[in-house]
Amino acid sequence: MLYLPGMSTTLAATPATIAEAAAALAAGKLVAFPTETVYGLGGDATCDRAVAAIFEAKGRPSFNPLIAHVASVEQAATLVEMTEPARHLARLFWPGPLTLVLPRRAGSPVSLLASAGLDSIAVRMPDHPVALALIQAAGRPLAAPSANRSGAVSPTTAEHVARCLGGRVAIILDGGPCRVGVESTVVDLTGERPALLRPGGVAVEALEAALGAPLLRSADSPDAPRSPGQLESHYAPSLPVRLNAVAAAPGEALLGFGPVDATLNLSPSGDLEEAAANLFAMLRALDRPDLAGIAVAAIPEHGLGLAINDRLRRAAAPRGAKQHRRTGETARSDE
Ligand code: TXA
Ligand code: MG
Repeated sequence: MLYLPGMSTTLAATPATIAEAAAALAAGKLVAFPTETVYGLGGDATCDRAVAAIFEAKGRPSFNPLIAHVASVEQAATLVEMTEPARHLARLFWPGPLTLVLPRRAGSPVSLLASAGLDSIAVRMPDHPVALALIQAAGRPLAAPSANRSGAVSPTTAEHVARCLGGRVAIILDGGPCRVGVESTVVDLTGERPALLRPGGVAVEALEAALGAPLLRSADSPDAPRSPGQLESHYAPSLPVRLNAVAAAPGEALLGFGPVDATLNLSPSGDLEEAAANLFAMLRALDRPDLAGIAVAAIPEHGLGLAINDRLRRAAAPRGAKQHRRTGETARSDE
């Protein structure tokens, strides 16, 4: 197939289209593909040119490293030092929405641009048949941030990707809506204590039970490791977002949770997994020019609620100065 500059082709994921997408990746092109969390904007993680094209297509600052997606623990072990705690978590949660930050292995083929020059690399084995088949067929790890322009709401359908990045990727593989709906939990295993860098699709409670110890969090200590990508304003619709709302103000839509009368409801039964799966699609659906703002009901702060509240706080953060929390450096956004 011919890929015209400025045109993206959306293809239903089949063995034939996955093979075609893998060939495009091997040629250094970008392919958007489904994972269980959100759609990823994939490129060959070992190719500087492909990784540079990802940063360019997203409009993302290059100090923010990318996750290398793998199809197996063995493949991860060719990129990073799979320490005993890493193997333990991988056994329990891979394939799945857990990203592990680990020491870069000597001779690791991952582009230094992908890891933003750090001596660590983030790795994840996604729980999606299309993603796994694509990584296998490409025969290399895939660097993939969420397939949206930097700072915008993450995509959970192929149509979201086409609207956001249409023309900036060669192929969009359509594998239907994402099951989990929020990004992976990011855990840093390079320090003395495992640290939570980003709450996500694996509940923190489950990780702490597996590790037998609490995760270090940035709120615990100013020295706790932070992800270079944790900027304040992010995941933001165009409209202002107001949190912990009980009712909509005039002109606002209400995004509800639990048994309330709302414009849209993340989960009428109060199920956090259902709410996570609906979050980004509903924020997009309410981002309408005829509305003045989006009011969001309170979400409980446990299980997937941590990830949902993290994304909502960023969606509601002041938009003007997107400050890098650690360095104070201003940037357009993180992902
Ligand atoms: O669910 C997900 O994780 C999705 C799907 C596509 O897999 N990907 C995703 O990637 O959310 P991205 O690039 O949007 O977020 C990756 C996060 C960023 O906050 C980044 O700063 C952090 O992981 N990260 C990546 N490499 C790191 C490293 N070496 N050290 C610390 N943080 C790292
Ligand atoms: Mg993102």
